[in-house]
Amino acid sequence: MIPQKASVLFRQNYYTDNHIVINQGGTSSGKTFAITQVLFCLACEAEKLVITVVGQDIPNLKAGALRDAQSIYYGWAGLQNLVKSYNKTDRIFEFHNGTILEFKSYDNAQDAKSGKRDFLFVNEANGISYDVYTELALRTKQKIFIDYNPNSAFWVHDYLIGKPNVQLIISDHRHNPFLSAQTKEKIEALKDQDLEQWRVYARGLTGKITGLIFNNWFICEEIPAGAKLVAAGLDFGFTNDETGFVMVYKQNGELWVDEKLYNTGLTNTDISARLIDLGIGQHIDIIADSAEPKSIEELRRLGWKIAGAKKGADSVNNSIDILKRYKINVTRQSVNLRNELGRYKWRTDRTGRTLNEPVDSWNHLIDPLRYVALNKLRSAGRIKRNSWLAPRPDKHVAFREMGMLL
Ligand SMILES: Nc1ncnc2c1ncn2[C@@H]1O[C@H](COP(=O)(O)OP(=O)(O)OP(=O)(O)O)[C@@H](O)[C@H]1O
Ligand SMILES: [Mg+2]
Repeated sequence: MIPQKASVLFRQNYYTDNHIVINQGGTSSGKTFAITQVLFCLACEAEKLVITVVGQDIPNLKAGALRDAQSIYYGWAGLQNLVKSYNKTDRIFEFHNGTILEFKSYDNAQDAKSGKRDFLFVNEANGISYDVYTELALRTKQKIFIDYNPNSAFWVHDYLIGKPNVQLIISDHRHNPFLSAQTKEKIEALKDQDLEQWRVYARGLTGKITGLIFNNWFICEEIPAGAKLVAAGLDFGFTNDETGFVMVYKQNGELWVDEKLYNTGLTNTDISARLIDLGIGQHIDIIADSAEPKSIEELRRLGWKIAGAKKGADSVNNSIDILKRYKINVTRQSVNLRNELGRYKWRTDRTGRTLNEPVDSWNHLIDPLRYVALNKLRSAGRIKRNSWLAPRPDKHVAFREMGMLL
């Protein structure tokens, strides 16, 4: 059983004799989609298998492998006939032949000791610790698939690549025939911004991305009950760029940020309707990209309390300086903002020298955060040092802080 729309990556992963197949690659090369297709095929072909897809956490899975799984499932009638049920809450596909395909995340190595499986897919493996991987791999009978963007070397490079029975496939957007020309152009355009990012995200080569701008952010589970809303930030996008909307709160001198919108194709009327659907009241302050006065005026006429961010020659650097003074807590569900923060870096020139401006990409949620900083946090007092700079016990968070996860 082969899907109709299969890329070269599907064939490479499907017809392999190796125990471990590593899919290193640039962004949007089709890694996750192809491996998920392979898992569906394997699930249909044999009885009573257990197939586990693991991600850093559930929001990451929902934005990655699970999203691809749903789009494959709903777009493939032949597959739907073989699936007995899909439990959205538990994220388990159960097949008529008794096989299950489950999507899970594990808090630690102990947690990962539970259960055995036939096939394992480690989605965005640089967000998973080696301990957790090892426990899962030990309990996997047949094959292990791994995918990631190689922004820096990690345990896959240290312990797996080059070993017997391990296949390495390096892919990039040129291997994905299902991607729009605009998306391909956008990825290639990284070349003009930052060669190191281009190597990683457009060519899938292992990088050593340095110069990350924010290392003062942490994952939190939710916005604390007593936190006070500072304002919301809005960045306009449409065809190629996402419209981004974040809510910024303050409590105990720390910022708490929650992503609300991250979509292309939204008109101003759509944005307004989506915010209302999200239960966001029209009384809150919204700070938006001042380069779009017409959109700001349109939203104002739709009833929103919206203003343009302050302009100024140094506004980008100023707002970064302001944000760096805070401990920034980002909700776990803010997957796209977490991604952007993990990639946001200073530009480098061709010789590798760091420039005094950020790479102008993957900033559709960071920009609105900056707008809020410019208009609402300018006079903020400095936070006490040390309170949050101490090492944290949580391994996953520590791992992320090392800039290892995208
Ligand atoms: N076989 C396919 N059929 C239809 N669409 C596909 C197929 N393969 C990939 N795509 C499209 O390409 C997009 C990018 O693919 P995918 O998410 O698998 O890339 P990726 O390599 O995992 O990227 P990243 O490294 O950013 O996670 C998918 O969201 C999907 O829209
Ligand atoms: Mg992927």
